[in-house]
Amino acid sequence: MAVEKFEPTTNGTHPDALHSALHADASIDVDAALKELDVLALLDDLNRELVGLEHVKARIRELAYFMLVDRLRHRAGLTRVAPTLHMCFTGRPGTGKTTVALKMATILHRLGYLPQGHLVVATRADLIGQYVGHTAPKTREVLKRAAGGVLFLDEAYHLYRPDNQRDYGREAIEMLLEAMENRRDELVVIFAGYKEKMHRLFEGNPGLYSRIAHHIDFPNYTLPELMLIAELMLSQQMYHWDFHAQAAFEQCLRPCLSLSYFANAREVRNAIDRIKLKQAQRLVRQAGRISKQELARIDASDVRQSWTCESSIDVQDRIGEPRSRQRLSTPTVPPARLGLFSWWRWPTLL
Ligand SMILES: Nc1ncnc2c1ncn2[C@@H]1O[C@H](COP(=O)(O)OP(=O)(O)O)[C@@H](O)[C@H]1O
Ligand SMILES: [Mg+2]
Repeated sequence: MAVEKFEPTTNGTHPDALHSALHADASIDVDAALKELDVLALLDDLNRELVGLEHVKARIRELAYFMLVDRLRHRAGLTRVAPTLHMCFTGRPGTGKTTVALKMATILHRLGYLPQGHLVVATRADLIGQYVGHTAPKTREVLKRAAGGVLFLDEAYHLYRPDNQRDYGREAIEMLLEAMENRRDELVVIFAGYKEKMHRLFEGNPGLYSRIAHHIDFPNYTLPELMLIAELMLSQQMYHWDFHAQAAFEQCLRPCLSLSYFANAREVRNAIDRIKLKQAQRLVRQAGRISKQELARIDASDVRQSWTCESSIDVQDRIGEPRSRQRLSTPTVPPARLGLFSWWRWPTLL
């Protein structure tokens, strides 16, 4: 039985096109293909770098395996129909949609489905003009930039405004549909946004819905997942926190989860940026010589001081306590739903 080596190429042409069909009794080494294309390494990176999102990872793995087998089939001379790879990622802000889209672009490139594999992020304002004749050139320009890679349409539901008959969104959607259908070999479009709002976009544009093969939902992160994300971000930046800082962070974060505008992992990233700022102030105030250990260490006061009252306005409003009193108040009996040590009750200036 003949066993042929799987040969990827890096010059942009589809590698399989370089080979003629295999004999009926020939075989292809799947392990070698996985290894040579580095697909497993990419999937492992995805697992390591992203906390949770198990079903999203499973869907991506499924797709990657399908694409690999599709390539092997082509390589073996079996029929191949270019798969539809356009996708829709639904979920609240900070749930990892853009991050996963970036990984997806790399995987699609590595597996030979996209010649370049870059990601172009665009919103309504990039595609749609304010006046007659402005939308087509804008949309064309974005499609040109995205050619060879992934076009990520953030908050894509804004493209469609059913209440405005003269909105130019329709024109842009028509052009997108045309590109999605006719340029499948060089462009993948990912629509992203809140689930409910995306439904409205698809209801108004059924042709769009049917051209999207993969709908993936990104749920909100749980508190333990957000804590793991915080730890991952800290260790990637070579910081670490002690038990007290970790506990303070969890107490600060818990009530935020119920805010309507809570931005999941992005909120954690912003909080860590603020904490690093406070740590630096503490170290400079402390003066003298600082050990390497100290440069990396975050303590509980850094966390508490970094938590701005601004991010808790919503919670405070719901509780009905004026902010001026909040700042001065010491912990009393907090509402049960906010937990015992509600961070918004800590004095801002410790
Ligand atoms: N599961 C996760 N594990 C680790 N970091 C994450 C995860 N999800 C999101 N992040 C980080 O949170 C930030 C916001 O994520 P992003 O992909 O921009 O969210 P979205 O596009 O859904 O608004 C990024 O810095 C990203 O790396
Ligand atoms: Mg995003």
